[in-house]
Amino acid sequence: MNKSLRKPLIVGNWKMNKTPHECVELLDELIPMVAEVDRTDIIVCVPYVDLCAAVEKTRGTNIKVGAQNVHSAPKGSFTGEISAEMLLEIGAKSVIVGHSERRTYFGETNETVNLRARAALDAGLKTIICVGETLAERDADTTEEVVGFQTKIALQSVSAEQMANVVIAYEPVWAIGTGRNATTAQAQEVCAKIRSIIRKIYGEYISEHTNILYGGSMNAANCADLLNEPDIDGGLIGGASLKPVDFTVIVKAADDVN
Ligand code: 13P
Repeated sequence: MNKSLRKPLIVGNWKMNKTPHECVELLDELIPMVAEVDRTDIIVCVPYVDLCAAVEKTRGTNIKVGAQNVHSAPKGSFTGEISAEMLLEIGAKSVIVGHSERRTYFGETNETVNLRARAALDAGLKTIICVGETLAERDADTTEEVVGFQTKIALQSVSAEQMANVVIAYEPVWAIGTGRNATTAQAQEVCAKIRSIIRKIYGEYISEHTNILYGGSMNAANCADLLNEPDIDGGLIGGASLKPVDFTVIVKAADDVN
């Protein structure tokens, strides 16, 4: 295993926070703080209505902009949804799919996550697919089974070529927004399992070149330990991504790995 084959990636998931005006204010602070970072990719996934402002504000910087979801259909009668083509046209380059909050509150299933991921990948978007077990599933000792199944279904009909744009984010549901993160050993164990599943489906080369992130209360204090684990190639950051100082600490910790 060779971690240096993968460029670290830190993704901020702003969730339903920041108006367009506030988004620009946050980026105004963040952009100079991370300007020197060159070995780590940085993406901020902002609310749909902030995307245009964020793309405009980050033009020419080392921060890329992504959305937090995408619909599987190219167009049509899907009130409230957004297509991959719409995202591309306004300059979004990435998208999160299958976040546990989408699965829990908005009825998304492994199958709809797969359809959305495929639409995003067909359009050429970098696609951050989230997987993770609930506390009940962990307590029942089914974490590997649940996360393995989520990963396999999410990747159904995704081609080897498209894997270049796939990122898997392991986010244990019980660690999201709770201040309770997985231990480095727990996070590493599941990320290694995810990589082994990718290896079984796509082979060694692709598994060694796929970024696997950890998310769930990753913060300025615990990020270095997590990011130094052999199968954790970055982070998907919620709360701490809204604090430029903390987010910068995480980005720099990723940049210091290797
Ligand atoms: P927190 O970092 O706030 O726990 O959120 C994690 C998350 O859900 C990122 O997608």
